[in-house]
Amino acid sequence: MDHSSVPCPAWLIKRLDQAGGSISFHQYMEWSLNDPEHGAYATGQLKIGRHGDFTTSPSLGKDFAQLLALQLADWFEQLKQSVDKERTLSLLEFGPGEGDLSFDLISALEDICPALLPRLELILVEANQAMVKRQQKRLGSLTKVPIHWRTLEELAKAPVVGVMIAHEMLDALPVERLVLREQRLFRQGVCLESDDFESYLSFTELPLTAELTSSLADAQVCLGIQIPPADAADGWCSEWHCELKHWWQQASAAMSCGPLLVIDYALEARRYYNASRSAGTLMAYRQQSASGALLEDPGQWDLTAHLCLETLQLQAEQQGWTFLGEVRQGQALLALGLAEKLHALQALPSSQLDIALQRREALLRLVDPVGLGEFRWLAFEFNQNSKGIAEPLRLRCRFLEDPIS
Ligand SMILES: C[S@@+](CC[C@H](N)C(=O)[O-])C[C@H]1O[C@@H](n2cnc3c(N)ncnc32)[C@H](O)[C@@H]1O
Repeated sequence: MDHSSVPCPAWLIKRLDQAGGSISFHQYMEWSLNDPEHGAYATGQLKIGRHGDFTTSPSLGKDFAQLLALQLADWFEQLKQSVDKERTLSLLEFGPGEGDLSFDLISALEDICPALLPRLELILVEANQAMVKRQQKRLGSLTKVPIHWRTLEELAKAPVVGVMIAHEMLDALPVERLVLREQRLFRQGVCLESDDFESYLSFTELPLTAELTSSLADAQVCLGIQIPPADAADGWCSEWHCELKHWWQQASAAMSCGPLLVIDYALEARRYYNASRSAGTLMAYRQQSASGALLEDPGQWDLTAHLCLETLQLQAEQQGWTFLGEVRQGQALLALGLAEKLHALQALPSSQLDIALQRREALLRLVDPVGLGEFRWLAFEFNQNSKGIAEPLRLRCRFLEDPIS
């Protein structure tokens, strides 16, 4: 038995049998996260937050959203100049998880620009019903803006003017895994192995599909990205975000005019598709611990892969988005005033020392260069006239400005 073989749960044995014994890693990741009966998000098994399975920036407290809201308020102000006075403005969040970011953003916007609220609506795009239920509960007390859960198909029929945010959502999209074996590139698969007592999950190699081959060729021609890199050793493995192209198509169809902010783990192509990154970026998370054992307990772990900066940008531009710029989270938050927020904690009365210390710790974690501070903030804008011709909005992004200027 392969050293990476692990026991296979009964539900997956059935699925693998029905599929002829093996499936792509992409299918495995899709079922593990989003299968309505067994997926980690779809069943609500995963919890986000300090006491959950993993923490994200919004789950550390309100300060993250309060800083980001300054950027949103600025974008909404700029958008107001370009659209009809009566037009509803939307704040749209993809993959809202526990709903913390949306909740805190609306609360912060209410403080920063109360006059915006009567024109504002909140739209949530969430793939998993158990998460929708938690979001409905979390956002239930927000009464000053209408809240809607929408699918991208519904939004294509009524595109929005507003600001879209994808915070740690694109890293949850299932990926294909690529493996180099005897100088040939394969698509990684997951298969069933059995002995007299038990069935096990193991990796296998499947041929590349025509679509994957053409996507890799596109990356080589348009961006000069070589996958695998020339000096990769046998067994080198990486990921390809095969769902992003369609996701950008759907995001374009859902947007009439406005910016989209992606905040996520991301790497430059030269670091992503590097011979020394021989196991790719995929990781599993549960109960605040990280693991590289991707086949263990499917449906119980979060599985997540970094994004590649250049391919993300290329795919966005191919769907009509204009790239506005990108920085690490640490720099973005400093540009939006994180240092001032830290300083202001000193003014809290000593009776609030506990709160001050907790907020200080959270603020420092948000900019920690070996932690959340390494996340990337990427801004795009979209505005096409009825003939499909791009009309640049040239939105200003405060978070891209030099924090010390
Ligand atoms: C890693 S969590 C991030 C949650 C939240 N944005 C945060 O940062 O705390 C990923 C979220 O995206 C949702 N999700 C996964 N695939 C999705 C898709 N294709 N469309 C919308 N939401 C999706 C998951 O159910 C979950 O709510």
